[in-house]
Amino acid sequence: MTTRIIGTGSSLPRQTVTNEDLSKIMDTSDEWISSRTGIRERHLAKEETTASLSVEAAGKALQNAGVLAEEVDLLIVATITGDYVTPSTACEVQAGLGASRAVAFDINAACSGFMFALHTAHAYLQTGIYRTALVVGAETLSKIMDWNDRSTCVLFGDGAGAAVVRAFGEDGMEKGGSENGFGGLLAFEQGSDGLRGKVLACEGRRNNNPLVQNPLVPSYVGMDGQEVYKFAVSTVPASILRVLDRAGVDAGEVKYFVLHQANIRIIQSVAKRLRADVGKFPLSLDHCGNVSAASVPILLDEMNQKGMLEKGDKIVMSGFGGGLTWASAVIEW
Ligand code: UT7
Repeated sequence: MTTRIIGTGSSLPRQTVTNEDLSKIMDTSDEWISSRTGIRERHLAKEETTASLSVEAAGKALQNAGVLAEEVDLLIVATITGDYVTPSTACEVQAGLGASRAVAFDINAACSGFMFALHTAHAYLQTGIYRTALVVGAETLSKIMDWNDRSTCVLFGDGAGAAVVRAFGEDGMEKGGSENGFGGLLAFEQGSDGLRGKVLACEGRRNNNPLVQNPLVPSYVGMDGQEVYKFAVSTVPASILRVLDRAGVDAGEVKYFVLHQANIRIIQSVAKRLRADVGKFPLSLDHCGNVSAASVPILLDEMNQKGMLEKGDKIVMSGFGGGLTWASAVIEW
């Protein structure tokens, strides 16, 4: 039994904001942002919400897969920027799509969120509990940015990406199609390091009750960029090497490395450490910025829409970020 991604979709807010636009409202420049990160523009939400972006991305993924909303058994949204504390974004998406049979819940693993959600769906599907899952990564990060802190706000953007994942294998289910077996998700690995969590943090509400008074002050993302950078360039190649080993796949066999889109310099460093051609690392950060949990599925959908993914291709996907967390998978398309 294995699981395959059988459809993808994505959604970006209508409004784009370029580095040049930002340089008119804060002390920054296109030169600083693009040379240090590779980011040129990002989409920022005006009327869109995390749920509305998720519904659009998920609807497109269902259409791409040829699957009806009523067929979805499991609906997981990875996000740190849900519109409500409760209901979960996943429950909002369930209602928006009419996925009435689905069990729906959110996952918070920041920029690794989509990968954590994919692995969770894989685990459910592999046991035979469910057959069809819809996995979404969605963020409206712009609402938790301090727009007076140029060291963070220029880096992030808003958007959503989604994938339909289905079980293939025994028990009369369709065969996945690979000549070597069922293909699909060949291996995954993930990890967390809460001891280093404060290097990338956004505080929630504080205790505020008859015993203790804490006036409601909004909290924004704070980041020690250099510590996160060091974490990423050491942890991501190690995670990818572990998952390749687990899958029995050589790095040379990999057609694409679909990485979380935080910084082009991180991606170049990972490519160098893996001795892989940087051309195998597609990018969306130039036009999306860092969209946290949505980065990987948006990029995967862009590749799918461009016809870059062919049956049998070996693809590595990897997310890393707040928690700290990281997660990688090898899939056969
Ligand atoms: O999703 C995962 C989470 N995030 C990441 O993966 C981010 C990882 N870290 C990074 O990508 C990089 O550390 C950054 C892009 C965030 C920063 O690059 P850096 O080369 O580490 O720059 P820095 O923080 O050392 O700042 C260098 C200078 C500072 O000025 P001084 O002190 O040298 O005078 C900053 O004040 O750049 C200044 N600066 C800016 N200048 C213009 C910081 N932000 C800006 C800005 N525009 N937006």
